[in-house]
Amino acid sequence: MTDTTEAAALALDAADPLRACRDLFVAQADVVAYLDGNSLGRPLTASADRLARFATDGWGARLIRGWDEEWYELPLTLGDSLGRVVLGATSGQAFVGDSTTVILYKLMRAGLEARPGRDEIVVDTGNFPTDRFLLQGIAAERGATLRWITPDPDAGVTAEQVAAAVGPRTALVVLSHVDYRSGYLADAAAITRVAHDAGALVLFDLCHSVGVVPLELDAWRVDLAAGCTYKYLNGGPGAPAFGYVRAEHQKRLQQPIWGWMGSSDPFAMGPEYAPHPGIRRFISGTPPVIGMLPMRDMLALIEKVGLAAVREKSVRITEYAIALTDAVLAPLGVGLASPRDAARRGSHITITHDRFREVNAALWERGIIPDFRTPNGIRLGLSPLSTSFTELWRGVDAIRQELG
Ligand SMILES: Cc1ncc(COP(=O)(O)O)c(C=O)c1O
Repeated sequence: MTDTTEAAALALDAADPLRACRDLFVAQADVVAYLDGNSLGRPLTASADRLARFATDGWGARLIRGWDEEWYELPLTLGDSLGRVVLGATSGQAFVGDSTTVILYKLMRAGLEARPGRDEIVVDTGNFPTDRFLLQGIAAERGATLRWITPDPDAGVTAEQVAAAVGPRTALVVLSHVDYRSGYLADAAAITRVAHDAGALVLFDLCHSVGVVPLELDAWRVDLAAGCTYKYLNGGPGAPAFGYVRAEHQKRLQQPIWGWMGSSDPFAMGPEYAPHPGIRRFISGTPPVIGMLPMRDMLALIEKVGLAAVREKSVRITEYAIALTDAVLAPLGVGLASPRDAARRGSHITITHDRFREVNAALWERGIIPDFRTPNGIRLGLSPLSTSFTELWRGVDAIRQELG
């Protein structure tokens, strides 16, 4: 039986080996419980300082010299840090640059064209809208066909479903690693094997897993991946996304946005585009340097505490969220639309009730901030380094009061 008292939540926090990390984030007096770190992570105070310092000591002091000294290479040096700390990727395979949507577009197009003679892309109906919309656009643009997998809405896509969907015409399989609604964690290694057995490439959207679920992109033999940095990497609103392209593919893959910064010699200012031989070819234009500042602090923190410890807390706090839901909210008609098996779950859960749209609005008025996902879901996003067990308890207790 779960102890549903606030005292029990406080005891869980007292025993949390990562509890000291919470004090590293900017405090906000009117926020009682922030349960949306899976949408927009909270800022570290180190990032607030870094942003302020940059205006004077970086941009202000270094001026145009900053490009030669650091900023020009930042998309790649930061890509290498991401690779080492959170992606399971050796250097030279990741870059930071555009929005997630734009990087996904570039990699989808490159992946489709890497398999001449094949014209099908496998995707699932539960994938995030931008992924589905981009593929609809690419299918229209390139005359490709989309093969849709329909996952269980409370779970996600399995390797067996992918095996049933791929075939000799499949060029690319595009899936989310963690489902944005249910939090289902796909078996990326098994799905990649299935795609490769069919001669296809695989592209994972890592938005909801990067920084919170340990990734082994190299070991899993993933071909392509992209993800955002404003969720569990705390890069701030609109922070640029990252892309991963497995080293062995880089020379052959051509992305469709041919900008000068991805060319073989950007400062030659030559007449014709020739792609850079390495990962730089996936960059298009001037990188958003200011947007790349905060994620460096979060990467440093994750590296210090270790991603395994982050995942352990994530499992514990999502287990607690499910236990509280079962004990406190299920009797009020609330359902769970997320996996119960921690091995198949990311760091958020979705709970359902027909009154949740109005309940969520009332929660925001009280300084309790989860998010609502149509038609009837509240997502509880639990960011292991900044979310306390007590915050979660307060959120669940407030939902109980609003439904009561
Ligand atoms: C799974 C997933 N993919 C893609 C995106 C969209 O990325 P962006 O708006 O940064 O281009 C999001 C945004 O929340 C997302 O959750």
